[in-house]
Amino acid sequence: MCGIVGYVGTECCAHLLLSGLRRLEYRGYDSAGIAIANDDGQVQVCRAEGKLTNLEQAYRQEPFDGAIGVGHTRWATHGRPSESNAHPHRAGRVVVAHNGIIENYLELKEKLTAQGREFTSETDTEVVAHLIDEAWNPSTRSLHEATCEALEEIEGSYALAVISTENPEELVVARNASPMVIARGRDCAFAASDVPAVLDHTRRFIFLHDGDTAVLRTGGIEVFDSNGEPVEREVKRIAWDPISAEKQGYKHFMLKEIHEQPARITDTLRGRVSVDRGEVHLPELGLDEQTVQKLDKIVFVACGTSFFAAQIAKYMIEEVARIPVETDLASEFRYRNPLISDDTLAIAISQSGETADTLAAIREAGERGARTLGIVNVIESTIAREADGVIYTHAGPEIGVASTKAFTTQLTAVAMLAIKLGRLKGTLDVAQARELIEALRHVPAEMENLLQDSSLYEKLARGYSQAKSFLYLGRGNQYPIAMEGALKLKEISYIHAEGYAAGEMKHGPIALIDRNMPVVVLSPRNSVYEKTASNLEEVKARGGRIIAIGTEGDERLDAFSDVVIPLPKVHEFVQPLISVVVVQLIAYHIADFKGTDIDQPRNLAKSVTVE
Ligand code: M6R
Repeated sequence: MCGIVGYVGTECCAHLLLSGLRRLEYRGYDSAGIAIANDDGQVQVCRAEGKLTNLEQAYRQEPFDGAIGVGHTRWATHGRPSESNAHPHRAGRVVVAHNGIIENYLELKEKLTAQGREFTSETDTEVVAHLIDEAWNPSTRSLHEATCEALEEIEGSYALAVISTENPEELVVARNASPMVIARGRDCAFAASDVPAVLDHTRRFIFLHDGDTAVLRTGGIEVFDSNGEPVEREVKRIAWDPISAEKQGYKHFMLKEIHEQPARITDTLRGRVSVDRGEVHLPELGLDEQTVQKLDKIVFVACGTSFFAAQIAKYMIEEVARIPVETDLASEFRYRNPLISDDTLAIAISQSGETADTLAAIREAGERGARTLGIVNVIESTIAREADGVIYTHAGPEIGVASTKAFTTQLTAVAMLAIKLGRLKGTLDVAQARELIEALRHVPAEMENLLQDSSLYEKLARGYSQAKSFLYLGRGNQYPIAMEGALKLKEISYIHAEGYAAGEMKHGPIALIDRNMPVVVLSPRNSVYEKTASNLEEVKARGGRIIAIGTEGDERLDAFSDVVIPLPKVHEFVQPLISVVVVQLIAYHIADFKGTDIDQPRNLAKSVTVE
């Protein structure tokens, strides 16, 4: 989730790269850099940690310019945010800016180091620059050919922009599972990870396909497909204004982030699971078999949506690894004199890694002797730095205050953790692990299907946005989703909502049910389906208006419900990842119908760094 901008032409391009990066700052902002080649082929690089203003300041102190260059704004995935880890990265004659994740970078780094290559950063990207430089002999092959050869060795996702000292007329780009657009201007060409970067200069874009590479020159653009054959790609005209372009045409960041979830889940799984071997690789966890065998319990601490991820972790880990799991709201844990031993594993879940209560709670657990782990989205955030181990989610920057993709990538991380613990504990055999990994890997495709059509949600919003209060019900791993659905609705539409365990309804909330109270029931086909369906009938018998979220083709739900939202059939283990998308969309469309400030709801902050 970083941003790239590139230019080749006849003008000096520093101002263009910096203004392009400004337009991309929403994609990543822990460091930034530009590299520009002058006519003599000298490439100068300027990089700075922190926000773009730091780069602008550094550049102003020692300016340089030229007619070909690349810029990058970073959201760290490998290596902490620092000047040396900022892009572009240089190796010999080659300078590279990269978005994505190189899965086999450690192995490649080892090989290149053995060949005498020296590395100056902790990033996965630097190996790409070295590989291209290694493959390049300018007297026999082009920069493009060397790039293609290097790409054959790479596993993972990338959008790459490459320039060099030897050939200051060509900008080479490549794309695989990470967006890259290119465009022709008058006597120039542009490349960017996202349209907004160059929208001030052109509106006609070529969206590269996976596997495509391209060579950009002052006089034109050549595109090649994954077989290296020249190919014509359609030029599309973009009518978006720069602000809606940042949202990629979506009305709100929240909606964009809901739609990004399949890709971000794929990123979170990338390089960490092997279906064939039934293995999960989480080396950063630092847990061995002996430690796992001795664990007396796992304690999760978190706040808000991250707390609901912790509650689902309890279902997943207890089911799969048979280790007792407690979940605590971080604000409660820190003041309740908790029982923790040296054999306890304490896990903080936090998108920001900076939430004050979660940080205090995990520190408290560590001080009481627990081994600590963070499941965190922001690299080098305080929780990530202080915990004994960390699993990074790869959600990228989340702009909407309401957590969406951060949550589903947290669920992806806890699912992988559960499988890993199950294997280490010996409660899960290879075949069972394979089945769960396979189920996880199917989630992005199932989610894509679910996201195809919003008409049902728009209709639902028209019919239900006048309600004063909603009840959300679920059992088992759908109970935390019921609470998350209620939280989403409250937070962005300002409608009161309660999330309840369906079996608890008759112990109180049933008194609320009448025609004015919509009841959202999460009832996919699973091990507690029959029980939830009976609760639904109890609601119906009292005249409640039911919005049922259930497995496609479930006629029983049709008979009892006012609205049925169908879910694809997936393994029970991963059902929360799918059903949560529906409650996100219900909340989003109701709030949109009401016209609230969805991305920045009143009274809320994205990161709660005070108690
Ligand atoms: O950064 P964190 O995950 O620690 O944040 C925790 C909560 O503040 C956060 O999940 C909050 O509840 C969201 N606004 C929910 O959408």
